Amino acid sequence: MKQLLRVLTWRNMLVLSVAVNFSLILRILNGDGGNSRDRPAYVSTWPVVSTTGTGSSSLSSRSCNYSEIEEDDDIIINLKLGDPTVYERYWQEMGEVTTVVIHGWQSLSYFSDNNNNLCWFLEPELGKEIVRVHKLVGNAETQDHFIVVGTGSTQLYQAALYALSPHDDSGPINVVSAAPYYCSYPLITDCLKSGLYRWGGDAKAYKEEDPYIELVTSPNNPDGLLRHAVVNRNEGILIHDLAYYWPQYTPITTKANHDVMLFTVSKSTGHAGMRIGWALVKDRETARKMTEYIELNTIGVSKDSQLRAAKVLKVVSDSCGNEMAKSFFEHSYDAMSERWKLLKQAAENTKRFTVPYFTSQRCNFLGKVFESQPAFAYLKCEEGIVDCERFLRENKKILTKSGKYFGDEESYVRISMLDRDTNFNIFLHRISSSYNANVQVHVGCDDDLGRN
Ligand SMILES: Cc1ncc(COP(=O)(O)O)c(C=O)c1O
Repeated sequence: MKQLLRVLTWRNMLVLSVAVNFSLILRILNGDGGNSRDRPAYVSTWPVVSTTGTGSSSLSSRSCNYSEIEEDDDIIINLKLGDPTVYERYWQEMGEVTTVVIHGWQSLSYFSDNNNNLCWFLEPELGKEIVRVHKLVGNAETQDHFIVVGTGSTQLYQAALYALSPHDDSGPINVVSAAPYYCSYPLITDCLKSGLYRWGGDAKAYKEEDPYIELVTSPNNPDGLLRHAVVNRNEGILIHDLAYYWPQYTPITTKANHDVMLFTVSKSTGHAGMRIGWALVKDRETARKMTEYIELNTIGVSKDSQLRAAKVLKVVSDSCGNEMAKSFFEHSYDAMSERWKLLKQAAENTKRFTVPYFTSQRCNFLGKVFESQPAFAYLKCEEGIVDCERFLRENKKILTKSGKYFGDEESYVRISMLDRDTNFNIFLHRISSSYNANVQVHVGCDDDLGRN
């Protein structure tokens, strides 16, 4: 009896396994990744960019190829946010080199570095890798700067406002940035209705005589242009947001050397979910106050995330010295370059959109001359289209962020260039073809929080 049961169980398992595998094969053949779609899909041909390499990452070998990709008319393509999933493939191909094992007995203490009497929650390993990657890329001066780590550069922005605002009873200081500015700045600045600072709008229109804080984002989000302070008066306090000052987006021409510079792994390595950013701060007292803000706000920054970020930055730096393989920055440069080439081609063909013009410059790090290829495309709708966001949503089923969120006109939209290949390819196809969505797409566009 026991023998019979054993045989039966074995046979049952075999039949079950064959049935499961057969159904899986059927689903794959149907192109249904487990998410059953019974809508008709059609296959068409258009320029496709792919960061998919077989074996090692080999983006350049797939330059500008035309291949067949499945388009599903009903899919809404959301390119509103700058979610950096374009880098996913690279990190997948890097396999285990960035794996970090954190034991249960680690990260118990609030404290990271007893020798650092300023930013006591900065993991020394992360501090070391931040200095190393900046020295290697040559995009920022780290000497004579203090490092303050934050939960993303979003927290550091708030820490900088806290540190730089007068704490006397002179009332809130105005915070300005030249339009089009990063849409989260006004929201973050005003969300708590602080008595220390308030959003003051477009820096180009700022005429008041009072002190102010000017945010300089370079390359800029949304339009990718390189920027300098525009208000230019002596009392101006500057915060430089250099989230995109990396060689995949723009030529590295000088070593930035400002009072407060903000960086983040979100846009440099693509690890937005790790929530790690850092500030390079010249003045000790400003760095101390920023640290104080983070103490009050979150009592430090996740050690686990800092250790992961340190590992990822180490792998990035190591990859730069590796003659046998493509470095992270070469890979990501190629990815952005290819996408921009295809976008410009598409814009050229339709004449419905224009993309910003960028001058070519020599990148000291990559040793070549190229035009900026930003993380976002700031498109302008032509042919009398007044509301570009609406036009793309209703006619192309593409969700973008309207220029109005950046203090600009509605004829502009910001489009993420950092999405996965499939979405980017469908986006390209839809803007360059006569594709016209016949069903209106109603998505909560106006309740948008302006994130990212
Ligand atoms: C200019 C700029 N600064 C800061 C951030 C936010 O960075 P983090 O993810 O590190 O908070 C973004 C994100 O889109 C950004 O575009």
